[in-house]
Amino acid sequence: MKFLFLLAALTSFLPFTDDVNEPIPVARPSASQTLAEASPFHIGFAISPARIQNIALYRQTVIQEANSITADVAMKPSRISPQKGVYKFEEADQLIAFAQSQKKRIHGHTLVWYIDTSPTWLKQIRDSTELESTLQSYIQTVATHFKGKVASWDVVNEAFDKQGAIRTDSLEGPGRPTFNVGKILGKDYVARMFQYAHNADPDARLFYNDYAQETRPAKLEAILAMVADFKRRGVPIHGLGLQMHISIDTPDAGIENAIRRYAETGLLVHISELDIAMNPDKKKDFVPTPELLEKQYEKYKFVVSTYKKVVPASQQFGITMWGVDDGTSWIPGFCKCADNVLLFDANYVKKRSYQGFLEGLKE
Ligand code: XIL
Repeated sequence: MKFLFLLAALTSFLPFTDDVNEPIPVARPSASQTLAEASPFHIGFAISPARIQNIALYRQTVIQEANSITADVAMKPSRISPQKGVYKFEEADQLIAFAQSQKKRIHGHTLVWYIDTSPTWLKQIRDSTELESTLQSYIQTVATHFKGKVASWDVVNEAFDKQGAIRTDSLEGPGRPTFNVGKILGKDYVARMFQYAHNADPDARLFYNDYAQETRPAKLEAILAMVADFKRRGVPIHGLGLQMHISIDTPDAGIENAIRRYAETGLLVHISELDIAMNPDKKKDFVPTPELLEKQYEKYKFVVSTYKKVVPASQQFGITMWGVDDGTSWIPGFCKCADNVLLFDANYVKKRSYQGFLEGLKE
């Protein structure tokens, strides 16, 4: 009797099928699924190793929701090589160890970037031969160190200005050293950086990463022209990153157009740094009203469902959130304004935006 009861209890968990060869149906998505579980492509979070270590809910959220990680700063040149000839990998290695222990993919970010996270010693170089060989040896050293550990690299970040020209300026203020890499090395430097990265780690998928392609058509066209040129010349490039630091007011048509045009290149497409602002005008009296949170929900849903629909499955590198929770997001520090741009609030409670992301995945 006891045996029969046990048998009945056990079989009640098995799917009913009268044909033993019929595949057991895959569990349908349920409300309790995490993003990574619900998604056909990788879900990433940009994270910092210190927060992983010190904030239990941050760590837990990353472990549960993501299967890809990007370092928010730990793999940038200023962290890895703060002084000339000095390489410090401890912080990045800590992040890699965490990702490996949790079986998460690692996307490297970033080898070359003109902006403030390039170290001062590098920004002071003015001679083109010296700068070229310094960047070549930086890429060689760093990509070799992480070989076999990272799946991919953002090789060059933000090389184009809004008119679609290679940047020869710097956003930095007066009196601070600038890093006019485009001016010193000439506009073809991007191609050479890709070649250096490929030589060091031929298995890594190499990405060009930039922002505002959804609202700046000249920049979008310039990037697409660069890709066409790279393909013609056999320069190794495998993917394009759309940062997507957007707002609830960013037009849907622009978002869809950027995703579609990127997909048409046949390369991998990564939404690499997603966050959606509710306070783009930096209002002093900003409060996240239910109406704004609803607009944010809609925008997340639109971005995710459009990516899923428009990018062929074989090109879906994934969507990476630029941060975990509203309490540690980079946006308030950057815009010097209040905002709540992510999927979790400062207490790691899921927002409406999380629901929007999840619904976008299921559309
Ligand atoms: C940001 C980090 O999140 C900040 O912590 C840091 O102070 C500045 O950089 N585009 C990029 C990212 O490619 O590397 C930036 O990350 C955000 C904008």
